[in-house]
Amino acid sequence: MPTTSDTTRFPDGFLWGSATASYQIEGAVEEGGRTPSIWDTFSRTPGKTLDGDTGDVADDHFHRFREDVALMKELGLQSYRFSVAWPRITPHVTADGLGEVEQRGLDFYSALVDELVAAGITPAVTLYHWDLPQALEDAGGWTDRRTAERFGEYAAVVAGALGDRVRTFITLNEPWCAAYLGYAAGVHAPGRTEPAAALAAVHHLNLAHGLAARAVREQAPGAEVAVTLNLGWFRPEDASSEGDVDAARRVDGLQNRVFLGPMLRGEYPADVLEDTAAVTDWSFVQDGDTAIIQQSLDAVGLNYYSPTVVRRWSGEGVKESDDGHGDGASPWVACDDVEFVELPGPRTEMGWPIDPRGMTELLLRLAAEAPGTDLYVTENGMAAPDVVGEDGVVHDDDRIAYLHDHLAAVHEAVSGGAPVRGYYVWSLLDNFEWAYGYSKRFGVVHVDYGTQVRTPKDSARWYSRVAADNALPAR
Ligand code: FCB
Repeated sequence: MPTTSDTTRFPDGFLWGSATASYQIEGAVEEGGRTPSIWDTFSRTPGKTLDGDTGDVADDHFHRFREDVALMKELGLQSYRFSVAWPRITPHVTADGLGEVEQRGLDFYSALVDELVAAGITPAVTLYHWDLPQALEDAGGWTDRRTAERFGEYAAVVAGALGDRVRTFITLNEPWCAAYLGYAAGVHAPGRTEPAAALAAVHHLNLAHGLAARAVREQAPGAEVAVTLNLGWFRPEDASSEGDVDAARRVDGLQNRVFLGPMLRGEYPADVLEDTAAVTDWSFVQDGDTAIIQQSLDAVGLNYYSPTVVRRWSGEGVKESDDGHGDGASPWVACDDVEFVELPGPRTEMGWPIDPRGMTELLLRLAAEAPGTDLYVTENGMAAPDVVGEDGVVHDDDRIAYLHDHLAAVHEAVSGGAPVRGYYVWSLLDNFEWAYGYSKRFGVVHVDYGTQVRTPKDSARWYSRVAADNALPAR
């Protein structure tokens, strides 16, 4: 039996939460005046998602949010990170103007926030978790700076409506995925495979972050302003090889420093501009942009799932995988000579290698690079081959082990001085896992997609215990 001395206590006030995203759970894509997002279009395009799955119904959360909040309350979860679907708020936005605000969209999120507050659950709102209004994509999407301008205006609307009750506004979720998976690899919406477009998207997402951060500050002065990044933990296969070390620098630039640089220091890293010079001259960066991007932040959110090891590719034989993001176009712009090493050891159902050390390393890195800024783990979790047992429950010991080890890694970062204020498990519910559709289950709560019945898995009960104790039991 674990004793108190076996436990790992978290700081007082540490927030235990769960996370979701609008398109992955809401459904009701044609209700309340909502118009299509790029994910509606992408998922309805044959061959883009596994089995042609779409978010049309998903977890039907749009209709069942009260039940879902009650479930969080029953589990003792203290915070809920969800995202707002932009096409519910300004369904008639065009590149040149926001269009009329849809009150029914605001009412939905306002009712959700009220329900959370009444249940004693702290809301954390992500403004962009990838469901860009299709009309904006038709005008160029994130390759066009007007998308960033409209995003700033949309952020002001949402912050103005919810800011009196929401503790944290997160401008963007994982701009790396939105830019490179959406515009270079084409495995996420809008499915484009143009490396130069991906870098323009990077910049306009950065700009969107700055404009939105400023808007939230103005409209919701009491709220925290944050951004969520999926920073990569990149290691060279051979730390004594110059080529491998340089490969790690390159991918670190493209995934980490191209966002951290302008957001925290107001400048793009010179080596990234140089590495990508053959792809674009970065002339989409206008005077004054980086000053807009560098807004003061109250918190940075880290999403961490998996480690990455790279080496310089010799150019001979068949290159190893592109980090598991498909066999076609690469998300890694200007990285033809970088090879992603297939790691031995345990993997999740996504095929992602498991190594919690990256969690500690990245939190400590953020603490050093953004001194004085609070940190949250805004996502972490695993897809597992869950089966409902004869007793009607999912005994997901693999997920419990994963969460345990990653939380221990968070704790190690806290002990090392990283100001981590909370942790959000991905995800509350099984949901639409983007291109993988419903085939990958990340929830701590099982969803039967035929009946919409929710059943907490063993991991939900375990996590509930961790939250109540504010401590990790021994394994
Ligand atoms: C992250 C996304 C989230 C979910 C998890 C598994 O990249 O932010 O929506 O798909 O991965």
